[in-house]
Amino acid sequence: MGKALDLMEASPIIGYDANIVGTTDYGATTDSDVVVITAGIPRRPGMSRDDLLGTNAKIVRSVSEQIKTTSPDAIVIVVSNPLDAMVQCAQQVTGFPHQHVLGQAGVLDTARYRTFLAMELGVSVKDISALLMGGHGDTMVPLPTHTSVGGIPVTELIDRKRLDEIIERTRKGGAEIVGLLKTGSAYYAPSAAICQMVQAIVRDEKRLLPCAAYCDQQYDVGGYYVGVPVILGTNGVERIVELDMTSEEKADFQKSVDAVKSLVKTMDSLLAS
Ligand code: 2OP
Repeated sequence: MGKALDLMEASPIIGYDANIVGTTDYGATTDSDVVVITAGIPRRPGMSRDDLLGTNAKIVRSVSEQIKTTSPDAIVIVVSNPLDAMVQCAQQVTGFPHQHVLGQAGVLDTARYRTFLAMELGVSVKDISALLMGGHGDTMVPLPTHTSVGGIPVTELIDRKRLDEIIERTRKGGAEIVGLLKTGSAYYAPSAAICQMVQAIVRDEKRLLPCAAYCDQQYDVGGYYVGVPVILGTNGVERIVELDMTSEEKADFQKSVDAVKSLVKTMDSLLAS
């Protein structure tokens, strides 16, 4: 409530007329168009996102049960970790259409990747266009073949060894922040990523963004949430974009999908017990 009031009091300076309310009552959120779930414990230094599974699955399940009754037509964006399993949990519990439940990860991970590339090249982040696929974990798959700087393929500007180092830093980007903050995980970049996604939905922007979306036949995933490029608009995930990958990228993507599948399996047995 304090944060909400604080944000409201910034509105005359920044110039917006939104009504911001803090509450612990789900009733106050009734019939929301978009619900963002960030509930759960964050990592501490040395922990992986997967270490949060048992605790956060129960929290996300309970939040999803509430949303199911208070906002049955909402589009739900999950941010809680381990992300890909938590989105699956929210969809399973709410029973909402798959295209109405998605996860925030790719926009953040791609933003980290673009930041590091801009730092390396001394160029504006605005000119870096990039794509990253797979789960939101150490196996995520940045795609150098779909990364360009002002239209120039990044592979022509950065040698492979240095690019691999940047990709590795991107994969560990969340842990780098946790290591620096010590008592929590990233706030600002994840929030900016969520804002971009919510805006795409409420303004029906049809943005093409990497999100954790439910893939069945797409990419032969077989019914799991993983990071893929999607068209995001008023109906949520309006389309999953399928693109060609090199055989190396395909193998990395498959490894990431397998990691997500095993996490979901563990989650399902934890929730059943
Ligand atoms: C991150 O990567 C919290 O998963 C989020 O920082």
